[in-house]
Amino acid sequence: MSLTPIGAPRHKITVASLREKKVLQEPITCLTAYDYSSARLVDEAGIDMVLVGDSLAQTMLGHENTLSLTMDEMLHHVKAARRGVKNALLIADMPYGSFHVDAKEAVRNAVRLVKEGGAEVVKLEGGERRADLIRQIVDAEIPVAGHIGLTPQSVNRMSGYKVQGKSLTDIEQLMRDATALDRAGVACIFLEGIPREVADLITSEVSAPTIGIGAGPGCDGQVLVFHDILNLTFGPAAKFVRRYGDAAAEISRAVQAYRADVISRLYPADKESYHLSVETKQTLETLLERKRNLRGRRGTIAAVE
Ligand code: KIV
Repeated sequence: MSLTPIGAPRHKITVASLREKKVLQEPITCLTAYDYSSARLVDEAGIDMVLVGDSLAQTMLGHENTLSLTMDEMLHHVKAARRGVKNALLIADMPYGSFHVDAKEAVRNAVRLVKEGGAEVVKLEGGERRADLIRQIVDAEIPVAGHIGLTPQSVNRMSGYKVQGKSLTDIEQLMRDATALDRAGVACIFLEGIPREVADLITSEVSAPTIGIGAGPGCDGQVLVFHDILNLTFGPAAKFVRRYGDAAAEISRAVQAYRADVISRLYPADKESYHLSVETKQTLETLLERKRNLRGRRGTIAAVE
């Protein structure tokens, strides 16, 4: 295995850099990553924010939805991603149940993501109902990213993954959610699965940068799921997904080629094998020859007796 050293020095992205980018109208880039190698590749490609999203429940662990993901599982992945990220801002999702029961426990879980996982920002789903909790986490010196619209942890309440904010009442609620999060002091707001017109409205209304996924081009930044852009999801993609590569095809091709080489004894070749030194090889051959001769003589004596 060979990994190139982390590349040329780049600017470290902070919460302040996100605000700056919004003011300067520079698009913010965000991609999920859930382990060391993918986080390192994403970071080295110059992406601003690496999100260890709870979508890892599906992409990495094969679950149906994000609901069963535990704090310990999330921490395991945040720690791995942390080792790969140098310049990007590292955001960790708070799993379902880790902030819903009790505010003290929620703050404790946010602290764990920072202290044990090395996250710089924690993200939690929900709008104005979460504003007080967000204030308490911010009071604990932890930047928080909000997440509204199609919030996957609400899959049962929403009766499926459906575009949100289509009626005037829903748009009003989304606006209230976004402004409540903004006032609570969030570092940014993820907008998922809402009409682009609504995302535009929110983006112009709040001072926090908005990061869209299925929310149109008017957001301050965009986020996609690593496995979606690389065709590693084993199913049809959502409307907003654009595929930038076919890792599934490349991995299958490589694995099948390896298997074929082993079966046909083409792998490993001599140049992929370790060798003895010429002297050791000669000494070994002499020793083996002597052994063979000895065995041969013993065989002849036994036959005569
Ligand atoms: O978990 C995740 O990947 C997310 C993004 C879809 C925003 O929350």
